[in-house]
Amino acid sequence: MSVPGREREIYIPPIDPRDIASPSREIYGVMGEANIVRMIDDFYRELEASSLRPLFPLDMRAAALRSAAFFVGLLGGPPLYHQRHGNPMMRARHMAFTITSRAREEWLACFDRVLAHAVARYAFPAPHLDGFRRFLRDFSLWMVNTAPEANETPRRPD
Ligand code: HEM
Repeated sequence: MSVPGREREIYIPPIDPRDIASPSREIYGVMGEANIVRMIDDFYRELEASSLRPLFPLDMRAAALRSAAFFVGLLGGPPLYHQRHGNPMMRARHMAFTITSRAREEWLACFDRVLAHAVARYAFPAPHLDGFRRFLRDFSLWMVNTAPEANETPRRPD
């Protein structure tokens, strides 16, 4: 049940998820699972230090592991997220959180800081970096569920 004055209009982003190109599935073969887990751990450290911190649970390490399971499958590895947590349905899973385009910009900025060193630190294959960045830009647009004029304070559901 929603609290009066706290209802939120659902925002539909201007993108069709079927038009989003997946990143190359060769990436996993080069990086391997351990490097992907380390990369996502570092990304969650960036999120932890960002203004998005209140959106995330106390246990960031556990949150990072759920996210890493998704990226392992996405980048060409075994479907760990499906196996552990079921169908990803990412937009639906993010619906519980207030995600504005400003939150998306911050999320992308956190990922950018990690990707700036990804070739050297996690053996990310350089030729696939641009495609991965493009995927993150497009797919994160699909996660936006709240119009900019709404209350922009990041918060977890009550
Ligand atoms: C647009 C900006 C985004 C924001 C602000 C955001 C925020 C969040 C939040 C708050 C959670 C819940 C954490 C928890 O309670 O454990 C989450 C989970 C997750 N997000 Fe995002 N997210 C964004 C975009 C994305 C994108 C683009 C992807 C994939 C490419 C993604 C993948 C995931 C995954 C895999 C999880 C774990 C779901 C689970 O706990 O089972 N997110 N995100």
